Amino acid sequence: PDPERDRLLSAYELSAKFYHFLLKNTEYGTAAMNYLRSRNFSDKMIDQFQIGFAPDRWDTLLQFLEKRGFDLAEMEKGGLLSARGEGKGYIDRFRGRVIFPIANRTGKVVAFAGRILGDGQPKYLNSAESRIFNKSRILYNLHQSKASIRKMRQIVLFEGYGDVISAWEAGVHNGVATMGTSLTESHVALMKSLADEIVLSYDGDKAGQAAALKAIPMLEESGLRVKVAVLPGGMDPDEFISRHGAESFMERIIDSAVSAIKFKLIYLKKNHILLEEDGKIAYVKEALQIIATLHSSTEREVYLREISSELELSYDSLKQDCNLLRASMQ
Ligand code: GTP
Ligand code: MN
Ligand code: MN
Ligand code: MN
Ligand code: MN
Repeated sequence: PDPERDRLLSAYELSAKFYHFLLKNTEYGTAAMNYLRSRNFSDKMIDQFQIGFAPDRWDTLLQFLEKRGFDLAEMEKGGLLSARGEGKGYIDRFRGRVIFPIANRTGKVVAFAGRILGDGQPKYLNSAESRIFNKSRILYNLHQSKASIRKMRQIVLFEGYGDVISAWEAGVHNGVATMGTSLTESHVALMKSLADEIVLSYDGDKAGQAAALKAIPMLEESGLRVKVAVLPGGMDPDEFISRHGAESFMERIIDSAVSAIKFKLIYLKKNHILLEEDGKIAYVKEALQIIATLHSSTEREVYLREISSELELSYDSLKQDCNLLRASMQ
């Protein structure tokens, strides 16, 4: 028995309901509701993901919690309130933000992520870490996706809450997200215990692609197969779905996810100017470094032939260079 933990869980459960109610049924929530609609969040998803709104006031949640007999110091430690300064009481931690409840794998709300309406810093504010919330271990939406994950033995990994939600509506029911781009060994171990394959569906911008490159070896070392869903034009999954629709997302992005090797080659190609000899040679050199690590000669041949036809280079010389590299790697 751990009464403090139970009180905190109960406070989060009630607060999530409260914020969701404020969003949907009060004047306070109107601007936030308009914001969510402008981003194509449907009523169904707002309910299913229990999205809420924290009004831009100092004491909305504070009064709510106080009336229900919660200890405010405990609520501050639990990440729902902020201290005003030594001995000066408390204020709401989340003010003027859309609230995304973060649940643990059994479905209990353990934290909030609060998004500012429109532009501003920080874009997201999270609950402080607490005895019920450790952000390096939690995967957003795992409680709702774990049934599909078990069936498919596959997880689609996103960067953001909005990506998970829009993709759910588009038909991806095995999606989760980390709290930001930092994937930890605990996340990897957790995913490995549930699935055999990860489809990385990070943002198409530089940061997202760099994060994918970093995640690949971590996932592969744990024995997970990795595929990468490549987003065009720097979009993230949520933006892609808003612009091109669910069907296009499923066909062009999720079902078209490429192997980790292919993704590395695509990424490499983007960073070289192939019309110039220098760029072409540098690209081939780096591509061979990647291809040479493949154990299967069939796989090596597939990619070498692609580069051969793409850059009008002879397959034989590519193969020769690749084998030289392999020999030097041993
Ligand atoms: P939207 O702009 O609402 O669509 O958010 P996004 O999910 O597309 O955000 P972005 O791609 O910029 O970042 C990906 C994820 O990183 C977010 O979902 C958050 O989990 C996290 N993140 C981004 N900005 C911040 C921030 O200012 N503070 C914190 N704590 N996390 C952030
Ligand atoms: Mn959307
Ligand atoms: Mn991004
Ligand atoms: Mn994003
Ligand atoms: Mn986004």
